[in-house]
Amino acid sequence: MTGSPGPHEPFEGDPQVPPDAARGQGVHAARLGAGGGAAARAFTASIAFDRRLYREDLAGSRAHVRMLAAQGILRPDEEAAILAGLLAVEEEFARGTFPFRAEDEDIHLNIERRLTELVGPVGGKLHTARSRNDQVALDMHLFVKRACAEVSAAARGLQEALLGQAERAGGAVMPGFTHLQHAQPVGVAHHLLAYFFMLHRDRQRLADAARRADVSPLGAAALAGSPYPIDPGRVAAELGLGGVYANSMDAVSDRDFVLETLAALSILLVHTSRLSEELVLWSTREFGFAVPDDAYATGSSIMPQKKNPDVAELARGKAGRVFGDLMGLLATCKGLPLAYHSDLQEDKEACFDAVDTALAVLTALAGMVATMRLRPERMAEALQGDLSGLTDVADALARRGVPFREAHAAAGALARLCAESGRDPEDLSAEELSRLHPLLDRGAVAAARTENVVAARRSPGGTAPERVAEQLALARRLL
Ligand code: ARG
Repeated sequence: MTGSPGPHEPFEGDPQVPPDAARGQGVHAARLGAGGGAAARAFTASIAFDRRLYREDLAGSRAHVRMLAAQGILRPDEEAAILAGLLAVEEEFARGTFPFRAEDEDIHLNIERRLTELVGPVGGKLHTARSRNDQVALDMHLFVKRACAEVSAAARGLQEALLGQAERAGGAVMPGFTHLQHAQPVGVAHHLLAYFFMLHRDRQRLADAARRADVSPLGAAALAGSPYPIDPGRVAAELGLGGVYANSMDAVSDRDFVLETLAALSILLVHTSRLSEELVLWSTREFGFAVPDDAYATGSSIMPQKKNPDVAELARGKAGRVFGDLMGLLATCKGLPLAYHSDLQEDKEACFDAVDTALAVLTALAGMVATMRLRPERMAEALQGDLSGLTDVADALARRGVPFREAHAAAGALARLCAESGRDPEDLSAEELSRLHPLLDRGAVAAARTENVVAARRSPGGTAPERVAEQLALARRLL
């Protein structure tokens, strides 16, 4: 996410890691003898990826320390020393000089160890009435809440690009498809706005997921709560979280809010993959409906004529990894007994990857959509002679009292005649028409003209220009 360190930044070769660090004990291995956990450490460490939670972790620690002092659990001078130390730690992160140590397996232990190095043994009081189990859950709640807002803002960017193209499309008309066959003509703006409204629901889902994330687990401690006179509500309020968990065991083992976010992101990526596929199709010689800007296309290393819609292809493909993140975490959480288990550490890479991927896809697609050139002349050409107005000939007959099935058969016979003879329905004589059905005349056939077909679809949400204008206005309001 913006401003966060990447998940795979190296740290082991960091010059600030003391050469003998790997033999160190780690700050939490109280129960273990010298060298305890050494074999486990490399496998269990999460610092390579959870380092990007440093901001959430520092915010949580600050709120925790202030609460401890307000409750008389820490003295004011202890609070001041720890807060000053946390500030110094934050500055090290900002400057990129924070000395990560691999044997402090995660971000929580790294920060606590560094704090103690900076302020002395009082730093060890930070962890009073807290466990890493509620601490890491809090960090993830804060991360997910922020991530939902960031992805939603990026989705809004794509909505704006779609709406901009829809507004510029004016009254342009294109084939509407079912089964990837020409079905009925539709407004270009109508087509583009369908994606706008998908993204609107995606943003609602993200807002909903953020609401579930908007709760603080701090105070659950390891699982059972804390014997100290803590005030979890104060911590939640200071962090801008809407409430606290009702049940401490649920608080430390709940990852629903991550799953829900990944589910929302997966559905979002379904939508962006569908849009991407259309952009790929539209960029082909066969369709020719859109021309990607050079900035969003790539060439070929062998075929000089190639202009590939790579951005759309990759955006389409990246949906798969987000689904994988969701499936993986569902499988991780399935069947876990209460309460915290290290399995839950697996939530992070899945969550980070899905969020990063969604942000990258949305940003790239927004740029591609905003800058592509639509070709309404090609769309109009594609409609020539495609017989996609014939539903309306059947409707015209039906309005004259012909049962719709009979009218449909007559229009079908008309379609066959035109397709076989290469003629336009409007080229047929009154006689030829009446041979197909006694009530079929040139007036009924005129209903099949593209502009008439489009204008006739005045039902709510339909493709008639005045209905599309309503959708455009609604879309503007929703942004
Ligand atoms: N690194 C762990 C995680 O990401 C946090 C520590 C949880 N507590 C524990 N005793 N291992 O979930």
